[in-house]
Amino acid sequence: MAGALSTIRSVTASPTLPPAPASAPAAPPGVAHPKTIRSFVLRAGRTTTGQAKALQTLGPRYLLPYAPAPLDADAAFGRHAPLVLEIGFGMGEATAHIARVRPDDNFLCCEVHEPGVGALLKRIGEQGIRNIRILQHDAVEVLTHMLPEGSLDGVHIFFPDPWHKKRHHKRRLIQPPFVALLASRLKPGGYVHCATDWQPYAEQMLAVLSAEPRLVNTSTDPALAGYAPRPDYRPLTKFEQRGLRLGHGVWDLVFARRHG
Ligand SMILES: C[S@@+](CC[C@H](N)C(=O)[O-])C[C@H]1O[C@@H](n2cnc3c(N)ncnc32)[C@H](O)[C@@H]1O
Repeated sequence: MAGALSTIRSVTASPTLPPAPASAPAAPPGVAHPKTIRSFVLRAGRTTTGQAKALQTLGPRYLLPYAPAPLDADAAFGRHAPLVLEIGFGMGEATAHIARVRPDDNFLCCEVHEPGVGALLKRIGEQGIRNIRILQHDAVEVLTHMLPEGSLDGVHIFFPDPWHKKRHHKRRLIQPPFVALLASRLKPGGYVHCATDWQPYAEQMLAVLSAEPRLVNTSTDPALAGYAPRPDYRPLTKFEQRGLRLGHGVWDLVFARRHG
């Protein structure tokens, strides 16, 4: 799933990762906004017939439109329940599993890749899942404009694109301004759970999350050096099992928003 640069077809657009500092150079004449950096590129990918059918039949019920206005989550889900945001669900394998094992929570799931959205809708149909709603939109904009402060009980960010090359590190999602935004959207006691199989990114996540004053690390076992045991609800996906067979590591991080 990680950004295959050979298939990139679009790189820039409207704001996503936090705005450039005030000292950044102004946009060139005739350009309304300076280019901003996104954590994803829209990859060319084939939507299968099954995914297309799910988009058509289940999209109207489970897809929410993006709007730069606060989301009425209770109305969107048809019930009041704890709200968990997932950012970048890929093909939705873990997402569907988690929604099934946590039926009392509402999962608002963001993904920009259309075949992935179709794939998750297909799982929703096949598995009879009712507690997922999907926003096919940049999660940074969703957090900024649709989710008020203190509105989230949890955030899941599993295997975000590691952007291996140094010149692409600026695209990594887990950076201080983004984590500050996340922390502001969490309720006191709410959690953010990240996982990655790329050790340098795990180290960056640990440093950035630890430096956010509103968050506290839930992992207290000194033997784990700040990382968390994999929570039971997060399944081992096929992708992860393959990585583990090849001897790759996986790091989970779970931080909570401080009270007060
Ligand atoms: C490496 S994939 C991981 C997918 C999935 N979580 C998994 O574990 O298999 C990262 C996904 O995040 C999505 N993504 C990256 N930045 C995003 C953003 N700002 N908003 C929504 N989705 C995003 C990408 O489209 C991609 O599908």
